Amino acid sequence: MRIVFLLAVIAICLAAPALSTSPSYRDHSLWTKTTRANPHEVINFRVALKQNNIDVLESVLLDVSNPKSHNYGKHWSIERILDLIAPEAHLSTEVVLFLEMHGAFNVENHRDYIKASARVEDIEAIFKVNMFNYKHVSRPDRIVRSGAVYTIPSQFRDLIHMVTGISELPHVKAQPAPRKLKVGAADSGIVIPQTIQNLYGIPTGYNNNKNTSLCLAEFQDDQSFNKKDLNVFATKTATPLITVTNIVGPYSGSDPDLESTLDVQYGGAIAETANVWFWTVEGWMYEFASDFFGTKVVPYVVSMSWGWPETLQCQSGVGNCQNGETAEQYVQRVNAEFIKIGLRGVTLLAASGDQGAPGDGDPECGNKKKPLSTIFPGASPYVTSVGATMLQAPSAADKRAAKKNVGANPPICTGTPCATSTTEIVCTYPDALITTGGGFSDYSPVPEWQQAQVSAYLSSGVPLPASQYFNSTNRGFPDVSALGHNYAIIASSQIEQVDGTSCSSPVFGAVVALLNSYRLNNNKPTLGFINPLLYSAPSSAFTDITAGDNKCTESCCSKFGFTATKGWDPVTGLGTPVFKNLLAYVQTLN
Ligand SMILES: *[C@@H]1O[C@H](CO)[C@@H](O)[C@H](O)[C@H]1NC(C)=O
Ligand SMILES: *[C@@H]1O[C@H](CO)[C@@H](O)[C@H](O)[C@H]1NC(C)=O
Repeated sequence: MRIVFLLAVIAICLAAPALSTSPSYRDHSLWTKTTRANPHEVINFRVALKQNNIDVLESVLLDVSNPKSHNYGKHWSIERILDLIAPEAHLSTEVVLFLEMHGAFNVENHRDYIKASARVEDIEAIFKVNMFNYKHVSRPDRIVRSGAVYTIPSQFRDLIHMVTGISELPHVKAQPAPRKLKVGAADSGIVIPQTIQNLYGIPTGYNNNKNTSLCLAEFQDDQSFNKKDLNVFATKTATPLITVTNIVGPYSGSDPDLESTLDVQYGGAIAETANVWFWTVEGWMYEFASDFFGTKVVPYVVSMSWGWPETLQCQSGVGNCQNGETAEQYVQRVNAEFIKIGLRGVTLLAASGDQGAPGDGDPECGNKKKPLSTIFPGASPYVTSVGATMLQAPSAADKRAAKKNVGANPPICTGTPCATSTTEIVCTYPDALITTGGGFSDYSPVPEWQQAQVSAYLSSGVPLPASQYFNSTNRGFPDVSALGHNYAIIASSQIEQVDGTSCSSPVFGAVVALLNSYRLNNNKPTLGFINPLLYSAPSSAFTDITAGDNKCTESCCSKFGFTATKGWDPVTGLGTPVFKNLLAYVQTLN
């Protein structure tokens, strides 16, 4: 399996045409098996145990997240959730004892999963595998894996769902390759925090509740932003200095990564004084979600700008799925973890993808059998899926207003003109480097909270792809949108311009963090799983984006895709936030 970060870059060269780069989708899984592993080397792994009552847990989540329910906001504790779903204590204890008896150590029983370490020779005996050293073409280090299917000890076959850390080869992000940017219908000015704050009416100078928080989650070896860059960003954009209050997982600040840099700079700038968490993950969604759920003190909002098609979560050879598990089973297990996280009162957001409706399943626009694909976690019903818009070329009135306000511009606009338009359209290639993703999940049925809007879309008379290409009875995504074109970030002290639903997700996450601040200041619970609230909000809470489609990808346009229209659509969702009206609605809730 390959996983992509949802971001494309334009490198700025002085007085030269803008060059852009976008991720290349080849060469992700170039692992080579080398020598047999040292039998004494230590491996960390985790064992996911089968859960009970997930259907009950889901109805509890929907109840506490429904603004009309008298249980609204009554979130559950970790213990209460595990009491409902975890296997009986004596069963997990048996697995712990078995692992310890066979040489495992540091064994942690988290009730519905077990984390442990063991030497290679013990792993080989327990799971009937041969462990090898693997090297990747683009990584200096080596890792130890079996690269082949493991065997669950027979007495635990009904209890253990999957084991991670032993067989699967992790996904390595490819280096971006240059591409030319065409400028046409879009505003060519850069987007800075003030562009977003002005457009959505997001207040500045916000003195947040000191417990409000926003977390940026990063995957693969994408583990760094540079603290010096935050200083330069603050000076150049005239915004308050961003302080990252919590770092979880491996971090190296010397070699800033563009995805992490974007997430921290725009999530942090829009959320103002909220606590900013930076959480790096060794592994993929199951590792993240299971660790996050089990952590006592966690941030209340998480943005994930990462994804890959739902149906490709178990791509052969490398991937999360072993032992005959299907992509659908992997997606369902992670969705169960997302339900648990939502029930704790945490909002999860994910980018809706950068390759339009064709998605990473058909980035070259040539697949006749399956021309549309989805994204995970962006198509999960338990995340708020965020799509991208862009500013259209400025009108004469926009230009006049910008001229008047030129004195208020921060220093960054001097060398690189800032955007002046105030009208949003669908973010799409070839005017942007990406096309916003959207469509219908392959696996999850349409949730009740969006049923009315999805039905209205399907019966609105907009042209739809032929019915065999998408599952119209399923969850539609995205839910909402925010700007996703031409953001200016500071990486290694340089200005870089980036495009992506990667821009949109942390910005909408920051809006949720500010709304949470209001809730906390008024002794109300955090917003948690926010989709039922978004779909029940008055239409004035969003600017509806009604023109454009998502038939293109990052490099071509397909015949297949969805068209934006009045109301919710699988292109820009409900639209972009009108902060004042969204807050007014939140203020009416318990
Ligand atoms: C922040 O959270 C802690 C722990 O829940 C609580 O004791 C404290 O009162 C909260 N502070 C504010 C300002 O809400
Ligand atoms: C559509 O998705 C549902 C699950 O929500 C599934 O039961 C059904 O088989 C799918 N239909 C097709 C044609 O894939």
